[in-house]
Amino acid sequence: MDALRSVVLGTGSYLPETVLTNADLEKRIETSDEWITQRTGIRQRHIAGEGETTVSLAEGAARRALDAAGLKPTDLDLVILATATPNNTFPASAVQVQRRLGIDKGFAFDMQAVCSGFVYALTTADLYLRSGMAKRALVIGAETFSRIVDWEDRTTCVLFGDGAGAMVLEAVDASKADGRGVLVSRLRADGNHEEKLFVDGGPSSTGTVGKLRMQGREVFKHAVGMITDVIEDSFSALGISAEEVDWFVPHQANRRIIEASAKKLGIAPEKVVMTVQDHGNTSAASIPLAVDVAARDGRIKRGDLVLLEAMGGGFTWGAVVVRW
Ligand code: UT7
Repeated sequence: MDALRSVVLGTGSYLPETVLTNADLEKRIETSDEWITQRTGIRQRHIAGEGETTVSLAEGAARRALDAAGLKPTDLDLVILATATPNNTFPASAVQVQRRLGIDKGFAFDMQAVCSGFVYALTTADLYLRSGMAKRALVIGAETFSRIVDWEDRTTCVLFGDGAGAMVLEAVDASKADGRGVLVSRLRADGNHEEKLFVDGGPSSTGTVGKLRMQGREVFKHAVGMITDVIEDSFSALGISAEEVDWFVPHQANRRIIEASAKKLGIAPEKVVMTVQDHGNTSAASIPLAVDVAARDGRIKRGDLVLLEAMGGGFTWGAVVVRW
């Protein structure tokens, strides 16, 4: 049995004030509220305004998570920021967040696994905490996809939004953790699917930032199978069944993918946390944003078994099961 457990102490989230509805999009491109709602479940998304960046959204979410945890920034010794839209090529946005929070000890880095970024970052933080290399970790998912979508491409620009979510975790002696903490993680990647979802620029290829390109139907075809496979692997590792899950908090890309995955796994619809209608797809921010919504409205409570899952560009995908 593990000597240490990574226990969640608090969550927080932050959304830009500006809301872009489907009706607003109807005025800009050839689309309809009906098409977007039926195909994706999305009704609106938040868009970063002038002066707002991935780092500023991340800072907002981090401060709220620290408040919820009852900690000061200087109590942290690890910051991991999952993002595919960093403020700069370098330094890491995590280090910029660390600076804004007034932390000058410990270590901080970004994690790049696109929409799976948060499950990759949470898994990484769990390993550092359980190894004893860090005591308290801040794990953030923050994105400004509005800056990399092609606003002329109706097949992608209606899908994405901006936002940030954060989680504070602490390494706790397993004998005193009451069964709480990260119980299992499973991560996967397969680079053969690169051209199905990518950004057509970068520092070493074009010297430009580039724009997001996606073959939506191709991603959709793979999504449910990959998601359910990695979740079933996590269930077998723990020796649990779907009925034991209290809350399923999936990556919020498309309502149809979420509903089909829950159905295939045998998770009841009332246990699924769905925020895609309000936030759109916020990539690495979508899981911590949804978790924070459900923790603050009283759904996710201490002792609940929470299943997190994501799939995205790469492809990358993964699942994490946490006892809250
Ligand atoms: O977070 C990372 C993971 N990403 C995902 O999980 C996204 C996965 N993919 C999807 O969610 C879906 O494939 C989409 C929502 C992107 C698209 O839904 P779809 O049911 O697969 O539609 P489609 O791509 O097959 O397009 C159907 C039709 C096309 O017209 P034709 O060729 O049938 O005449 C599109 O041109 O819908 C048309 N279309 C639109 N119509 C109105 C595409 N975008 C729009 C639009 N408004 N915004």
